[in-house]
Amino acid sequence: MSNSPTMHVVEVDPALQEDLNSDDYASSGYENSLSSSIEQYAYENGRRYHTYFGDDKNLQPTDETEQDRLDLHHEIFLILLGGRLHLAPIGKTPQRILDVGTGTGIWAIEMADKYPNAMVFGLDLSPIQPKWVPPNCRFEVDDAERDWTHELDYFDFIHIRNLAQAISDWPKLLSQAYECTAPGGYIELAELETAPHSDDGTLDSATDLLRYFSLLHEGLARMGNLTAVAAETLKSNLENAGFVDVTVTTRKHPLAPWPKDPKMKHAGALALLSCQTGFHAYGIAIFTRVLGIDPVEADRICRAAIAQNGSRSHHIYTYYHVLHARKPLA
Ligand SMILES: C[S@@+](CC[C@H](N)C(=O)[O-])C[C@H]1O[C@@H](n2cnc3c(N)ncnc32)[C@H](O)[C@@H]1O
Repeated sequence: MSNSPTMHVVEVDPALQEDLNSDDYASSGYENSLSSSIEQYAYENGRRYHTYFGDDKNLQPTDETEQDRLDLHHEIFLILLGGRLHLAPIGKTPQRILDVGTGTGIWAIEMADKYPNAMVFGLDLSPIQPKWVPPNCRFEVDDAERDWTHELDYFDFIHIRNLAQAISDWPKLLSQAYECTAPGGYIELAELETAPHSDDGTLDSATDLLRYFSLLHEGLARMGNLTAVAAETLKSNLENAGFVDVTVTTRKHPLAPWPKDPKMKHAGALALLSCQTGFHAYGIAIFTRVLGIDPVEADRICRAAIAQNGSRSHHIYTYYHVLHARKPLA
C-alpha cells in the first residue's frame, strides 16, 4: 500500500539490528522492560499510586488496600442490583464486551464466566488485574481519555462503573464509546453520586461529612471533573453522544449498617468497611494536590468523616445510578 502524502514513514529503530542473538521481542527483554515501566509507582501520604500515564493522572491509589476495597465495593453493587452484574438487556450471546476503568477486573472476570462465548476486555490505567483469569478475559493498560484504537462498531456491550470523578472529558469518552459500540449494542454507566443524603435529617448535624464532601466537590470542580454526578448529567451525556432509549435506575447506597431491611443493612455494613479506606482513597490526593491542603490536615478531614459515618446517630446514604442505553441500528 502506498503512503498517503500526510503519512510519515515510521523509521525502524537501528538498535533492533544490533542484537541479532534474539529475533523475537520476548527473548530480547523488550516485554520485561515495558511491563516494568508500566509498573511505575509513586508513594504519597502513605498510599501507592500508578504513574505510568503521568504523576497526576491517577488520583486514586491502586495499592492492595484499594484493590481490596474495590472488590468489596463490587459486592455492595451486586447487592444493590439484586445480584445482577448489569441491567442492560444484552441478550444471552454477546460476543465482545469492554469494561472501561476495570480496576481489579472483578466485574470483567465475572462477566467472562457468565458469558463464556463472549470475549471480555478490561482496560485500566493500572495493571492491577490478576494474571490467572478465564480464557475469554483480557486486560490492557490504557488511558480511556486518549484516542481509542479499538475497531469501530465492535463491542456489543461497553460497561463503565465508578469512574465518574476520574474523567475530565465525558463527552469525548462517550463519543468514543459510541463509535466503538456495535449498532444495536449497549452501554451501561454505573456511578455513585458522591453527595451525602439522609431521610431523617441526621445529615444536618454531620458537619465533618459535609465538610469532606464539600471539599471533594471543590477539588473536582477545580479540575473540571464531574462533582456530584447527578443521573440527569449522565443521561444527557449519553444522549448527546448519540445513544437512545436511556434507562435510569437509582438505588440508595447506605454508608453504614443503619437500615432496617436486612439486605440494605448488609450493604451498609460492607460500605462502612469500604469507607474506612475509601474516604482517604477518594479525598487525600485531591485535597493535597488540587486544593493544596496540608497532608496532616487532609488526613484529619478524612478521619473525621470516617468517624462520623461510623456513628450510629447519622443515617447517611448516597445514590447509585445505573444507566443503560442503546446505539441505534441505523
Ligand atoms: C473507583 S475504581 C473502579 C474500578 C471498577 N470499574 C469497579 O467498579 O470495580 C476506578 C478505576 O478507574 C481507573 N481509571 C481512572 N482513570 C482512568 C482512565 N483515564 N483510563 C482508564 N482507567 C482509568 C483507575 O485506575 C481505577 O482502577
